[in-house]
Amino acid sequence: MVAGAAAGPAVKTAAARPSIEPLRLLVSDDMDAVNREILRRMASDVSLIPELASHLIAAGGKRIRPLLTLGAAKLCGYRGDKHVLLATCVEFIHTATLLHDDVVDESERRRGNTTANVLWGNQASVLVGDFLFSRAFQLMVETGSLEVLRILANASAVIAEGEVLQLMTANDMDSTEADYLKVIESKTAALFAAACRVGAVIANRPDDEVQGLDDYGRYLGIAFQLVDDALDYAADGATLGKNTGDDFKEGKVTLPVVLAFNRGSETERSFWRRVIEQPEEQQPEDWQQAQRHLARHGAIEETLGRARLYGQKARQALMAFPAGTARDALAEAIDFAIERAL
Ligand code: IPE
Ligand code: IPE
Ligand code: MG
Ligand code: MG
Repeated sequence: MVAGAAAGPAVKTAAARPSIEPLRLLVSDDMDAVNREILRRMASDVSLIPELASHLIAAGGKRIRPLLTLGAAKLCGYRGDKHVLLATCVEFIHTATLLHDDVVDESERRRGNTTANVLWGNQASVLVGDFLFSRAFQLMVETGSLEVLRILANASAVIAEGEVLQLMTANDMDSTEADYLKVIESKTAALFAAACRVGAVIANRPDDEVQGLDDYGRYLGIAFQLVDDALDYAADGATLGKNTGDDFKEGKVTLPVVLAFNRGSETERSFWRRVIEQPEEQQPEDWQQAQRHLARHGAIEETLGRARLYGQKARQALMAFPAGTARDALAEAIDFAIERAL
């Protein structure tokens, strides 16, 4: 498939699943440099920092955000070394948010392992998260670009706003689809957008290309989170590497729940009010009941349908760029985000 992509349009067999492998291959040398930089920048004399951080970092993860930064830089013909610093920075921001997010969500599994908050406690997780955030800012400053600093500092503030907004909309069945969209645009899509945008900025590309990559990243990020929220109800936890049912247990008002609630009978609506607004009162059978209500109203399918629509918007934004292996690889990342682990 990769050889096909290099020679021209990729020829896919019926069995081939969309993958981020083409993107990984496209930037593999740069990504090796990013992985070295991640290890180097994680170092600290305070031993708990590398110990806790490496527990999460060594477990891998998809590294989709740094791959996007490197891919965007490649698409823009960037020649230089700032993209490696930026991709490292983007992954550090992401890693910091995961440490904080697992504390807030009281999650117990991440990347196939027990979470840092379970192993080391909430305090250590929050503080090491703060350290990684600060490291990310040091990396931004090293690029010497005030514009890059502006983009990533803005994204960091927006992510935090998204997490706080999510806290405000949780446990409240009066939260709307618009509230939900605002949450995911902020907590997830803003970093995807920034990760792609900075690739164009360091390459000094014109405004329309900078905006094109920002749009691509933002729509891809929305699709990615929509799928993540569908998977929280529909996936197999072992494949996902994190526990399913976390959103339900926390009473998060994600799109599957909003759709099932809006389409539900009075009895169903009072079910959702009870389990989402007082999740601590949930009974073991409530999870199966929720699954049945979601299935009855096609809520998971519809959530994935929305993800596909945002995927089309991401693809449209990308099509303004010249055809080639970089564009193909970034386009396949959209399909990967939508079809992963289903
Ligand atoms: C998890 O992101 C947080 C969400 C935005 C859903 P990823 O699914 O990219 O996490 P890793 O880095 O691959 O573990
Ligand atoms: C992702 O949100 C967290 C951020 C993007 C900051 P989720 O809470 O949905 O992600 P998972 O499911 O824990 O990975
Ligand atoms: Mg979470
Ligand atoms: Mg989730």
